[in-house]
This record gives sequence, C-alpha cells and structure tokens, in this order.
Amino acid sequence: MSFIIAIDGPAAAGKGTLAKRVAAHYAYAYLDTGSLYRAVGVAVTAQGLPASDEPAAVRAAQSLDATKIAAKAIRTAEAGEAASVVAVMPAVRAAILQFQRDFATNPPNGAKGAVLDGRDIGTVVCPEADVKIFVTASAEIRANRRFLELKTSGSAISEAQVLEDTQERDRRDAERALSPMRPAEDAHLLDTSNLSIEAAFGEAVRIIDKSMR
Ligand code: DC
Repeated sequence: MSFIIAIDGPAAAGKGTLAKRVAAHYAYAYLDTGSLYRAVGVAVTAQGLPASDEPAAVRAAQSLDATKIAAKAIRTAEAGEAASVVAVMPAVRAAILQFQRDFATNPPNGAKGAVLDGRDIGTVVCPEADVKIFVTASAEIRANRRFLELKTSGSAISEAQVLEDTQERDRRDAERALSPMRPAEDAHLLDTSNLSIEAAFGEAVRIIDKSMR
C-alpha cells in the first residue's frame, strides 16, 4: 500500500517547493499535477489556437505523455494562464484524473509512497490520502514571490500585473464548477505568509510524522 500525501493550495503558495522537499525527505515519488494542465495548455497554444479551444485541449489531454513535458516551456506566466483555462474543462480533467490516481497508488521506481501537489488532490483525486495539507499565503505575498521568480528568469512583467493575474487565477480556480480549489475537510491548513521555506518544511514534516504513528 502506497502512503499518499496530498498537498493543495493556490498558485505560488509554495506548495511545489514544499512537496518536492517532502518527497525527497521520505524517498517518495513526486508529481506536480499543475504541470499536466500546463502541458495541455501549452500543447493547444503552440498550435496557434486559443487555450479555450475545447476539442484541441481534450485531444492534448488524452494524448499527454507525462515523460515528455518540457520543463521550461510550461513554467511561464502564459502557460499558467492557459493551464487554468483548460483546467475548467470536464473532459480534460477526466483524462488527467486517471493518470494521477495511478501515480498515487502505484508510484514509479518502487517508491513506498507518493506526494502529489495541486488544487483538488485531497478533495477529488485522492480523497483517501493518508495526509492532506492545504498550503496558503496572502495574494500579495504570493504575487511578490512569483514576481521575483519571473524577474529572475528575465520577464519584464510588473508586480501589479502579477498580483492582478494571481487574483484572477485564484478566482477561476476557486469558482469553477468541477473540482474547485478548496481545502478538504480533513486537511491541515499551513499558512506560509510569514514562514521561510525551511520553517514550512519543518511544519509539514511534523504533521506527516504524526499521522504515520
Ligand atoms: O500549480 P500551477 O500553477 O502549476 O497550476 C496551473 C493551473 O492548473 C492552475 O491554475 C489550475 C490548474 N490545476 C488544477 O486545476 N488542478 C490541479 N490539481 C493542478 C493544477
């Protein structure tokens, strides 16, 4: 039986960094589920189509090869935008759902557990997860973190624009009819607004260790 850790939360709350460190700490497999939606969004826009082109998005989701996701192309602000547009489509979510469940229950390379990060892991993808953590931080702090990241990678976008995009994305993720972003009832809330990465990691390990006993 695979030990499943679900880490959910809004964009730039620090869940990716946290989930990766947690996975390394327990030698579990790690899946960034946002990268799957990003890859679908990019597959559509790279054909010159709008991300809202549903048939194209569904085709991309159904033929998604997780081993072929180009890391760089999906990390841009535009890819994040496109991801949140295709993520509202039921057929896209259905195609991605099974992949995520297989990864969680049967992690690659013989790992004894899996860490999945996303928006709906604790509520929809793995409602039976052994531990659920919902990571949050204020929109201003998340926008500032994302802004600094984007600046480092050479983007000229303003911080005000990043904040606006962050709020728009939160709204779209939280208000969509299917699998909206929300904490599971049994999730532990972890607010990283005033926590360093180190402190957030320590808190997550404390929560996980407790539930392993
Ligand atoms: O975490 P991220 O920024 O890489 O996610 C990109 C988009 O993908 C996000 O706006 C919503 C969507 N997403 C989702 O709907 N469900 C998930 N489990 C993960 C991401």
